[in-house]
This record gives sequence, C-alpha cells and structure tokens, in this order.
Amino acid sequence: MMNLTKNKQRAEELRELILKYNYEYHVLDNPSVSNAVWDGLFAELKRIEAEHSELITPDSPTQRVGSKLLDGFEKVAHKTRMLSLNDVFDRADVEAWVKRMDNLLPGVKHEFFTDIKMDGLACSLIYIDGVFSQAVTRGDGFVGEDVTDNVKTIRNVPLKLRYEKGYEQFLVGRTEIRGEIVMLKKDFEDLNKKRVSVGEPEFANPRNLAAGTIRQLDPQIVTTRPLNFRAYDLIRDDVSQVSSWMFAYQAAGILGLSCNQQASVFGDLNGVMKFIDEWDKKRHDLPFNTDGLVVKVNDRAQFTKLGIVGKQPRAAVAYKYAAEKVTTIIKDIFIGLGRTGAATPVAILQPVTLAGSQIQHASLHNADEIKRKDIRIGDTVVIFKAGDIIPQVESVVLELRPKKSFAFDFEEALSSEYPELKFERPEGEVVYRVKGTTGPILLKRSIEYFTGKGVMDIDTLGKKNVIALVDAGLVDDLADIYKLTFEQIVKLDRFADISAHKLIDAIATTKKPKLDRFILGLGIRHIGSQTAVDLANKFQSINSLKKATIEDLLSVDGIGEVVAESIVVWFSDEDNLKLLDKFDALGVKPYYQPATGKLVGQNFVITGTLKTMSRDEAADKIRSLGGTFQAAIARDTDYLVTGENVGSSKLKKAQDYGVKIIKEDELNNLIRG
Ligand code: IVH
Repeated sequence: MMNLTKNKQRAEELRELILKYNYEYHVLDNPSVSNAVWDGLFAELKRIEAEHSELITPDSPTQRVGSKLLDGFEKVAHKTRMLSLNDVFDRADVEAWVKRMDNLLPGVKHEFFTDIKMDGLACSLIYIDGVFSQAVTRGDGFVGEDVTDNVKTIRNVPLKLRYEKGYEQFLVGRTEIRGEIVMLKKDFEDLNKKRVSVGEPEFANPRNLAAGTIRQLDPQIVTTRPLNFRAYDLIRDDVSQVSSWMFAYQAAGILGLSCNQQASVFGDLNGVMKFIDEWDKKRHDLPFNTDGLVVKVNDRAQFTKLGIVGKQPRAAVAYKYAAEKVTTIIKDIFIGLGRTGAATPVAILQPVTLAGSQIQHASLHNADEIKRKDIRIGDTVVIFKAGDIIPQVESVVLELRPKKSFAFDFEEALSSEYPELKFERPEGEVVYRVKGTTGPILLKRSIEYFTGKGVMDIDTLGKKNVIALVDAGLVDDLADIYKLTFEQIVKLDRFADISAHKLIDAIATTKKPKLDRFILGLGIRHIGSQTAVDLANKFQSINSLKKATIEDLLSVDGIGEVVAESIVVWFSDEDNLKLLDKFDALGVKPYYQPATGKLVGQNFVITGTLKTMSRDEAADKIRSLGGTFQAAIARDTDYLVTGENVGSSKLKKAQDYGVKIIKEDELNNLIRG
C-alpha cells in the first residue's frame, strides 16, 4: 500500500515535469533540460505505469498516440487507420507473441519481416496518379493534420513517383506511402552547432525537433531544418497488389522513396533474435536514432486476418531495447575505502533496470565530482552506463529535489564513517586518502587479516612475513598470495628452504576455503564471523552474494541498513570485482556446505570466561554443528552459556526472554552428545 502511494505521488510529479518540459520545448521553443533528462524521466514514468497499470491516467504523456491536433492545420481523415505497436522486451515476449498468433491461425507457419524502428514521427504521403498530393500526420490514428506544405520541403520526398516497368499499377489511382520523418543525427548536430554559434539555445533531441518542425505553421522555418523521410508501408485500394511487407519496401524503393536497407525476412524466430542482437550493438552507428525494431508477419493477407486489438495489430510488435539512461533516487551516499586507502564515494540507488540489468549503485568518483554536480542524498538523478560495469550519474533533476536537502559534506561523511582513521587530500589531487603513505599499510593489514586466525589460518605467515612480502613487491592484493612461488619466497631474508616450502604448502591448502571464511576474509566493513556465516547460508555462493540487492540483504536476520549498504558498496567497486575474478582464475574456489549437524537452528550466546576452550573456539564448534553464535541475547536466543564471572544483567535478560541458561559442561554435552 505504502509503495503504491509513493509510486502514485512519484508518477504525478513526473507527469507534471514532463508536461512542463514539453511546453518549454514545443511552445516556448526554449527547453531547460537536455534530452537525457527528458528521456530518463519519461522512461521512469513508463516503468512505474508498466508495473502499476492502475496508476495510468488518460492524460499521462505516455498515453499519447501520435500528437495532439493543433489549430492551424486542416484535419484529414485517414482512409486506413494508422496503428501503433505493442512493445516487447525480450525473447520470451517474442515467443509469447508468436504463440498467440499460432492459437488464432493454427498450422500457419509465418515468415517474419524485421526493420529498424526509427525514432521520429509517422507521416502518410498520398500520391494520386503518381503525383504527390497530400501529407498527413498520424494525429489520433483516425484523423491527422494536413502538413503537405511542410513535407514538400523534405528533399527525399519525391513529388512524382518513378516509373519502372512492372510497377505501372502504382502510378494509377491512389498510392499511399507511410513512413517516419526523422532528423538525421548529423544534421541535428550541425544545426545545434550553428545555433550555439549565434547564441541560441540548443535543441533537445532530434525526435522532438522533427515533430516540432513538421507542425510549424511557417514553411520558411521548415526549410532551415533538414528532415528525412523513410518509408515503411505502401497501401493501395486493391490490397492484393501488395502481397508482403518486403514487397511494399521493394516497390516503395523502386517508386523513388527511401527505405531502410536493413529490413530483412526470416523463416523462424532464431533469425529474428539474431537480427535483434546484431542491431543492439550496431544501432548506435545508424544515421538516425532508434529505440528498437519492428517485427511483423510478412504476409499481408495473414497480417490482416490476424486483426487488431485496441490500437495495435496482432501481427506486429515493437521490440524495445533496454534503456541506457534512466532516472532514479539516491537513497544514500557511502564512501568506500580502496585497498590503497583512496576514499571513493558510491551512490546507493533505489533499484532500477538499466540496459537490461537491475542496478542499485552508481559511482560518484570523488568529492569534486559530487560538488560539481551538486549531488545530494534524496536527489533524483539521471544515470547511465558508460564503457565500465558500474553506472554513473549524469545529472541531477533539480526540480525533483526534496525541500529539505543539504549539500553533501564529504569530510563530515568520512569522519562519521571512519572515525578511527585520518584522511588527507594531497595537493592537486581530487582523491582523499587515508593519511600517511598508508596504501601499503592497509594492504598489509588486510593480508594479515585474510591469512590470519579464524579466516584462512595460514599460521606460518605472521605479521612480519606479510610485511616482508609486500615490501618486496611480491604481493599487491589478497589474491597475489596464491601466485607466490618457492623461488620468490626463498630469496627473502626471512625464509630458508624449509620455511619457504612450508608456507607455499600452507597457502595451497587454503585454496578451497569455506564460503563464510572467504567472505569474512575479504574484509568488508561491518562483516564479522557470524554475519559471514549468515551470508553464506543465505546466498550460498560469491556470485549470488555479488548480485544481492539491499532488500535481499535486509531479509537476512541480523543485517541492517549499514551492513547491507557496506556489502553492496564493496561489490560495486570494480577493483573488488576484479579481485574476485583473480581469485577464481588462480583456482581459489570457496565452497558452501549447507549447515548440518545437531545444532542447526539453535542460537547460542556465551557470557563469562570458559575453562575448557576460548570463546572463539566455542563459537567455531557451535557453527561447525550448524548452530548460530550470537553476540548478544535476542528474542530468538535458545541458550545462554555461562562461564565464570557472569554479569547479572545478562542472566536477567535471559530469564526475561525465556532463554535456557546452561553451564560450560552442558554445552560440551550438547557438542559431544
Ligand atoms: S511499421 C502496422 N516500421 O513506430 C505497423 N513503424 O509504434 C506499422 N516506426 O506508427 C508500423 N519505424 O511511427 C513501422 N520501420 C518501421 C518504423 C515504424 C518507426 C513507428 C511508426 C509507427 C510506430 C509504431
């Protein structure tokens, strides 16, 4: 319920803002935001509406088919209705679409026609006896606007159809050519350059500009804005003259119209999917913008037979590529510490899908970047994926900034997150680092921890040896210890033949660590041994822990916001991801064994000093039998083990919660018996 109210409010805010931007763009001709911001907000609104269809309002900017009819142009009824297409997003959607058609026309094997979906505006050109007579926008699909004069300025729209033997029939009577009016990317850039040079504001994006241009009342202005028409349909009164979509393209081309050369026909879905994958990569090199592909049943008789549902034909779909820019909200900013002591800020995002995958954090680079873009917690931001794996923040949508919001204070955040460390920002650098040349110190510390007691337990590798290895330049990160060779080590002063062999052997025995130990060893802030065990139990592999969302993590007992964020941030660092790959490549394969043993599901707290073992040893034993070792008494604690010198407050709490209080020998019985 909460979620719905939030989404509703968000959708309303987005709609209001998009309408404002549309107005600035179309009416004032003076946009205040870039095309990325507009696209991002529009994509977010579409996403919310797709997830909560009850939130769609009839006046939502997403519900617009074609464009509103403006005064000043004559209305023209379309002889054949202009349709729109249903969107599909992946292979499963495409398969479901084909299945629906198979149910309607059982036994009919379809050929599929595919083409690039151009991002412009639809227009219909009417030729009478081969002569251009009228151009009509889509309008609401039934009635459009007469934009003949403006379309006449488009250079690649022939005013007379070409004659070619075998195609004479199209030069007699009415031939309707439908297609998309686009502005080529190059023309758009040139135009903007010109505008900047005379001090005029830049246009936001080619699609809006093409649409705005076509509805200019003054054709003089239209001539200054180069447009391009690309045909995708040919309609005759006698529909049998056009047997397939491929034929429509061929005929249109012969008659003198431009058609996309990329259009293809496939006998099966595999071909279609290959086309889709191929163009996902290549579409950015096309001369015009595209937001997907069109897939249709090639045969026109079958196409018609399959009919129309609502505004969409059953026999065609628009395949939409995943958005590469989306908007979302920054929930928090967290500063990660790299292995070299560099403090790197990361934005924790409300999860969104970007370029096909769910993301929940973005890199903020450094303090200056945050300041320059004035990125704040609570802000709505446009995020994008560049070459790297981790998305980045492009800009902040200031209009959606919460009323109470503060500039991000980097130094303050550093000291509250790492009260035990001191930071400095070396002259001329953008990065804050742990004070002193602490790079190696941090590295030494993390190796010591990883190889130390309770983690990898490589006891032949003490503190001094770690220092020697790092100082000799043999170990640059945690994984490097698995690269060490006997020859390298034996050269160091601290080692002789036997000790070097011993160390190599000891390291080799840790190549199949238990998953929880491995997680613990990574040194992720706020993860202690019990959390590591809980994480291992829940996620069962490093790969699924890597993909865990904040919500997934919060569902683990005992994990709160701070720990969850710390984990997500650790896995958002490309150096850390590379480190994991390196471990893997070096043959370090953590394994998970589901908790078995007689203590599964039992929670223990120990208080006081034990006689027969240390607390750590006791905790290890409990865990090895599947039990959970808790730091403090909680509602779900089953046993409080009391040693010597027990504080009374713990006993009282245990009694209040109905926790069983046992002595050390009873614990030993549980473990043994
Ligand atoms: S075919 C009956 N082909 O996308 C199907 N449409 O949502 C007619 N579009 O109204 C459409 N490129 O404005 C087709 N290669 C292409 C297209 C294309 C862009 C637009 C067109 C259409 C809308 C469908």
